[in-house]
Amino acid sequence: MCASGKIILIGKRVGKFLYLVYNKIKIILQYYNNMAKKRQERTLVIIKPDALNRGLAGEIIHRFERKGLKIVGIKMIQLDDIILAEHYAHLVDQPFFPRIAKFMSEWPVIVMALEGLEAVNSVRLLTGETLGRHADAGTIRGDYSMSVQANIVHASDSIENARKELARFFKPEELFDWNCLDSQAIYAEGEGEEDDDE
Ligand code: TYD
Repeated sequence: MCASGKIILIGKRVGKFLYLVYNKIKIILQYYNNMAKKRQERTLVIIKPDALNRGLAGEIIHRFERKGLKIVGIKMIQLDDIILAEHYAHLVDQPFFPRIAKFMSEWPVIVMALEGLEAVNSVRLLTGETLGRHADAGTIRGDYSMSVQANIVHASDSIENARKELARFFKPEELFDWNCLDSQAIYAEGEGEEDDDE
């Protein structure tokens, strides 16, 4: 191939690459624009080993779905000491930390990303307080747990932590920006938009 042919070929490849990058950036910007406009949040839930061992995973997922929260990511993973030390950084100095780390890494868990208006708070309300036997009846922990450690689920406790935890457990391509046909039945028209008074 002559020199000018090579330059044209390189030019075409660079052009194609730039076009792909441009499209990716456009999709990401559109996604954040939609999220900002609609005040949607994403949060992380971990279905813990006790729930899996008791055959409750489907029931737990069903509860979040029935509420109207949208699943935007889900997978089964095995946690290790490194990720657990990061995830429970606020508890690593507690005497019970080795016990939690053993429990959470001995069996697989299911991690889920849920989306909805004020999803972080909504999911925490559904989850109930940490100690299962004190949690309100009707909450997940209140209905299925008697324990502090075997308390069925983890749920992010703030928007900031939800963002960090989602990034910890999911690669960007494992999270889906999909349009749920039911959302028109779940929310009022315009609910959650910037100019919506609520
Ligand atoms: P924490 O972040 O305080 O609660 P939550 O899960 O409600 O956000 O604690 C994280 C997990 O650590 C908790 O779900 C179960 C476990 N844990 C114990 O095993 N013993 C304890 O005394 C506490 C406080 C937590």
